[in-house]
Amino acid sequence: MKFSTGILLPASVLLTSTSVIASDPNKAISIGILVFPGFQPLDIIGPLDIMMGLSSRFQNMTLSLIWKTTGPVTALAPPSANLPAAIYPRLAPSLVATHTFADTPKLDILLVPGGSGNRFLDESNDTSIEDFVAQRYPELQYLLSVCTGAASLAKSGVLEGKRATTNKASWKWATQFGNGKVDWVPNARWIEDGNIWTSSGVSAGIDMTYAFFKMLLGEDKAATVMNRIEYSPHLDKAWDPYAVVHKVPGADLSRSLGDCVGPVGYEFDCSGRK
Ligand SMILES: *[C@@H]1O[C@H](CO)[C@@H](O)[C@H](O)[C@H]1NC(C)=O
Ligand SMILES: *[C@@H]1O[C@H](CO)[C@@H](O)[C@H](O)[C@H]1NC(C)=O
Repeated sequence: MKFSTGILLPASVLLTSTSVIASDPNKAISIGILVFPGFQPLDIIGPLDIMMGLSSRFQNMTLSLIWKTTGPVTALAPPSANLPAAIYPRLAPSLVATHTFADTPKLDILLVPGGSGNRFLDESNDTSIEDFVAQRYPELQYLLSVCTGAASLAKSGVLEGKRATTNKASWKWATQFGNGKVDWVPNARWIEDGNIWTSSGVSAGIDMTYAFFKMLLGEDKAATVMNRIEYSPHLDKAWDPYAVVHKVPGADLSRSLGDCVGPVGYEFDCSGRK
């Protein structure tokens, strides 16, 4: 526990690191994000808001929103036998796909979101997302998934022999994929294994994205953006209270449900919190 509050750490304390794709801030990092009917909005918009902030002056980036066809893609999932009626929404936004699977440019980073629509795709034996992930994986520097997007990664084969995590409320559905060759980790907010990062449900994608860009571009740039969007990320990738809330088999129930978070780059004290 830290005992001072509101003290900005000197820049020299903040670790910085760069990778090959981030060595030149003017050279665009090519980012692709999949969309599909029934995507979970925050899985995309959370990470994308951080990317947008970083692209302002810290790092040139290009964005491809990818689906079978260009144009609006609704977040409303098609009906699914596996989707409880109680969580079927009546309201949903659309995002506009800018590229198709066929005309997406070379990508450095691909993010695969989750959402209840991937149950419908699975029941329809629609493997277009998995085919695209498997086809593009060799050219990627990094592959990221949020929420049940990890199910698509598992089905594509790229998680074989790797550790991964996914949405804890959809644990049983998502972890059935991967032919038993994926090491699904119950107590993880997110997991990094090689160049594949997978996060737990929905909002966990924001925490993973902060950790990812802290690794890629350095803490000072990532922290500036987090404090601009006024979000205090969870920093402990092994902290996931939703493994307990959703009673995930094999989860460590002794971990605290609460986490002490505050603005990144600052010291803060949670012990006297009212
Ligand atoms: C950012 O990258 C794009 C695409 O490669 C390029 O057209 C543009 O000139 C770059 N911007 C800067 C400021 O270098
Ligand atoms: C999907 O594949 C399964 C297994 O082959 C089959 O039983 C099912 O009827 C297929 N569903 C559709 C919608 O084609």
